[in-house]
Amino acid sequence: MELPFAESYKIKMVEPLRKSTREEREQWIKEADYNLFQLKSDQVYIDCLTDSGTGAMSDRQWAAMMMGDESYAGSSSFFQLKETITKITGFEYVIPTHQGRAAENVLFSHLVTAGAIVPGNSHFDTTKGHIESRKAFAVDCTVDEAKDTQLEVPFKGNVDPKKLEAVLAEKAELVPFIIVTVTNNTAGGQPVSMQNLREVRAIADKYGKRVIFDSARFVENAYFIRTREEGYGDKTIKEICKEMFSLADGMTMSSKKDGLVNMGGFIATRHEDWYEGAKRFCIPFEGFLTYGGMNGRDMAALAVGLDENTELETIETRIKQVQYLAAKLDEYGIPYQRPVGGHALFVDADRVLDQIPKEEFPAQTLAIELYIEAGVRGCEIGYILADRDPVTRENRFGGLDLLRLCIARRVYTNNHMDVIAAALKNVYDRRHEITRGVKIVWETELMRHFTVKLERL
Ligand code: F0G
Repeated sequence: MELPFAESYKIKMVEPLRKSTREEREQWIKEADYNLFQLKSDQVYIDCLTDSGTGAMSDRQWAAMMMGDESYAGSSSFFQLKETITKITGFEYVIPTHQGRAAENVLFSHLVTAGAIVPGNSHFDTTKGHIESRKAFAVDCTVDEAKDTQLEVPFKGNVDPKKLEAVLAEKAELVPFIIVTVTNNTAGGQPVSMQNLREVRAIADKYGKRVIFDSARFVENAYFIRTREEGYGDKTIKEICKEMFSLADGMTMSSKKDGLVNMGGFIATRHEDWYEGAKRFCIPFEGFLTYGGMNGRDMAALAVGLDENTELETIETRIKQVQYLAAKLDEYGIPYQRPVGGHALFVDADRVLDQIPKEEFPAQTLAIELYIEAGVRGCEIGYILADRDPVTRENRFGGLDLLRLCIARRVYTNNHMDVIAAALKNVYDRRHEITRGVKIVWETELMRHFTVKLERL
């Protein structure tokens, strides 16, 4: 008999989970103004809010922490991190930052000015925020396939070369760079193919533009290239990563995802002028260049995490757990962004709660119902997160309305996946009884989803 697939690790330290009653959860979510970001973590049983900074570190990473060098300047942990990043990406210049959005802030402070146009594939909300807050425009050039959740195509995160070329043909002088998010979080953790990265590179070269990868989940992207794109099945994950980054000029990184650490980020680039420009903003915003908002020990753990996660066994264990959960949803007939992506399952709330109008935020409603059902906390990646159009101030209903269930790295077992799936099935089975959604009673101008206050209708 062929042995089944199993995790590439065993567990050395555990943390208790807390269960609660439906009545308690109804009270708590009301007190949280129906915003799942406002819940306390001990009011949550299984936390699928995000895969960002929620993973478990390995014994090697904890060991590295003890060796961290906390020198203000010239920390050996920084050089260890820099060497690892250069080995994986080929980028020579590295600036650490305290997380991904800080990397965006530092680099975009140098590159993005009012009126600029930054084309890309479904910019993440902080990326969009850092562009729009500078009175510049993020133009989404994602392939149309990404909008049809039921369409089964291997690289739904791709940039549509025609859309990208159209932006450049018309307004090239306003474009400081192109940004490609790997994997494409907002479109459902969907990967971008190597072929597509090559096409983007060719268009960028034609117009003399540079390309940044928003690389939060670059290893997951490399795994999908290995398993779905012809010619990559025999390559190592590290070889694929190297090839991906050979097509970019620089990267912003949230190390809280594929870096396998709880906090951290960085900028890396092959261009000295970008490095020199960004340096000027690192020092006032983040700190001196050899720590940029990170502890020495955290840089040491990140160096190990990056090396560890770019090994096949580590990333395969992760993706297979997400695929295990997806197979359960298939069994129950629950619609989600297909095929399942790298870090999360994105349930198509518009299809599940099809009687709830967009104005009442179906995905947020589904997130609330799932929490009340079983204490499983998901996250709306939909109309609330999309914010309002900066010019018209209207809600943006043009994209997808999804309930994202993120899987933390190396934290939950497949038994927890079974609980998540069963809870979702219970909500799905009573979906016709859920006829009203929520309305916004208080919101901020940018990134409103974190603090929005809602009322149930
Ligand atoms: N880019 C992508 C693609 C992201 O998913 C995130 C964060 C960031 C940049 C910003 O990084 O959080 O370290 O400042 N995504 C988290 C999430 C918050 O839940 O998807 P950060």
